[in-house]
Formats: sequence, structure tokens, C-alpha cells
Amino acid sequence: MEIRKITIFGGYGRGGEKERVDQVDLEMGDLLSIVGPTGSGKTALINDIGLFADENTPSRRRVLINDAAPAEEFLDDPARNPIALITQHTGFLSDATVAAFLDTHARIRKRGNRDAVIADILDFANQITGEPIITGSSMTELSGGQSRALLIADAVIIGNSPIILLDEIENAGINLTRALEMLRKYEKIFVFVTHDPRITLSSDYRIVMKGGAMQDAITTSPEEKRIGEKVTELDKIIVGLRDRISSGERMLEKEFRAIMDMTWLT
Ligand SMILES: Nc1ncnc2c1ncn2[C@@H]1O[C@H](COP(=O)(O)OP(=O)(O)OP(=O)(O)O)[C@@H](O)[C@H]1O
Ligand SMILES: [Mg+2]
Repeated sequence: MEIRKITIFGGYGRGGEKERVDQVDLEMGDLLSIVGPTGSGKTALINDIGLFADENTPSRRRVLINDAAPAEEFLDDPARNPIALITQHTGFLSDATVAAFLDTHARIRKRGNRDAVIADILDFANQITGEPIITGSSMTELSGGQSRALLIADAVIIGNSPIILLDEIENAGINLTRALEMLRKYEKIFVFVTHDPRITLSSDYRIVMKGGAMQDAITTSPEEKRIGEKVTELDKIIVGLRDRISSGERMLEKEFRAIMDMTWLT
């Protein structure tokens, strides 16, 4: 079944009040951000989407796919589930190696030419991590950023999931600007829970959460998108500095001033 659209019908906030936003429609290719302070219900909202909530979660929200209740096959067969959720706290129970994990997943998803698929995943993941992933190491040995990068690449490439939910990937220490550039090449519905202005300002919409409720749904204006591009440039400078310091360089004020002078940000 081809996914064209998801709809979220508002329910109730933590205090039992009705949500101000009563409907959100997401079409294929849309990028949505969910913003709000810690504890405001961002993860709960993304989980409602991942569970195809049907008034059976604390928020009592309802989620439709293509204007109808999600088909049973989505709920029962993990290989057909159209949603991939990259959670805030990744932990692996299995001590399988990276290669075995990817190979098993590719087999479950019935992907041909598994070696090529696995090579693509590692290539994608390694472009957004600091240090490359060693395929012989076990999944439990990966760093937080490496495991998140691998799961994102896995969801996009093996899972081929049309809907990808990502919970605060910026905290994993992956190269976010690069990750956004790469993800944008895929036609999917992306939902990012995020505190990062690069993601929010390059999204099509953002939902503002408060007290467990969807408080507002804002369409990103062209002006905000322009600001987002400048923020991304600003961030590239910070990332550049971070990488140089991480690799053991010493910084000089004179040099820093030169970098700032070369930067045209207004
Ligand atoms: N609509 C709701 N009704 C009842 N409980 C809710 C609702 N929304 C969120 N909660 C509960 O409130 C708590 C905080 O929510 P949540 O973990 O989603 O916050 P968060 O915005 O993701 O915070 P953080 O930024 O720290 O990750 C959780 O225990 C969650 O189950
Ligand atoms: Mg959260």
C-alpha cells in the first residue's frame, strides 16, 4: 500500500485539557518538527504516531493513514510497518556484530544483493559519524552517535520506511547538517523532535508542545527558511572549530578573528 498522508487528531494534554491543535496533516515529502521544553510531551507525541494511536494512549490522540485507520498488516507484521522510529535512548540487547545485525535485517526485509545494501548503509552512516563504524564490532560497543547514525541509515536504506520519526538526534553528536542534506534526498515523511534551529527552520511546519498538548502548528515562512540557511552556515563554523579542537589543535585569537572576518552572515 502506498502511503500518501498521515493525519493526527488532537486529544488531551497532561492536565486533561483539550489540545489547541485539533488536526495535523502530513503529506509525502513533508518535514515536520516538534518543539517544546523538556517534559512538554514531544516524545509522547512521536510515540503516538509510531503506535498508530487510536484513543488508546494517555493523550487519547488518533492517527490515520491515507484518511483511514491503519491496516492490520502494519500493526502485526514488523516487515510491513511503514514507520521507523529512532528513539532518544538507543540501547541494544543483542551482542550481534554490526555486519550480522544488518545482514539479518536485510534478510527479514527480503532485500536482494545484501552486500551492496550493507555497504550503502555503512557509507551513509559513516558520513554523519565522527569515527567510522567497524563492522566486526558488536552493536553494544557502538558509541551513542554511531548507533544512532547506523539506525538512521538502516531505516532509510534497508527499511525503506516511508515515515521516519527521529527523537532528538542532535544530542547524539552526529553531523546534523550533513544528515539533513542526505535525508532530504529521500522522498519520505520526516518528523523530527528537536531543539535545533537548523532543523526547525528548514522544516515545512513545526508543532509547539506545552504541558503534554499540541499548543500551536506553525508553517515556516520564507523569511524563516532564509534565517535557517544562515544558522546552518553559522553552525558550520562552530562544527569546524569543534573538529579542530577535537583533533588536538590549539586555537589562536588572530586566526579566529580571521575566520569571523571572512564570514558574511548579515
Ligand atoms: N497528553 C499527555 N497526557 C498524559 N501524559 C502525557 C501527555 N503527554 C506527555 N505525557 C507524559 O509526560 C511526561 C513527559 O513527556 P515526554 O517524555 O513526551 O516529554 P519530552 O518533551 O519528550 O521531554 P524531553 O525533552 O525531556 O525528552 C511523560 O511521562 C509522558 O508520558
Ligand atoms: Mg523526549
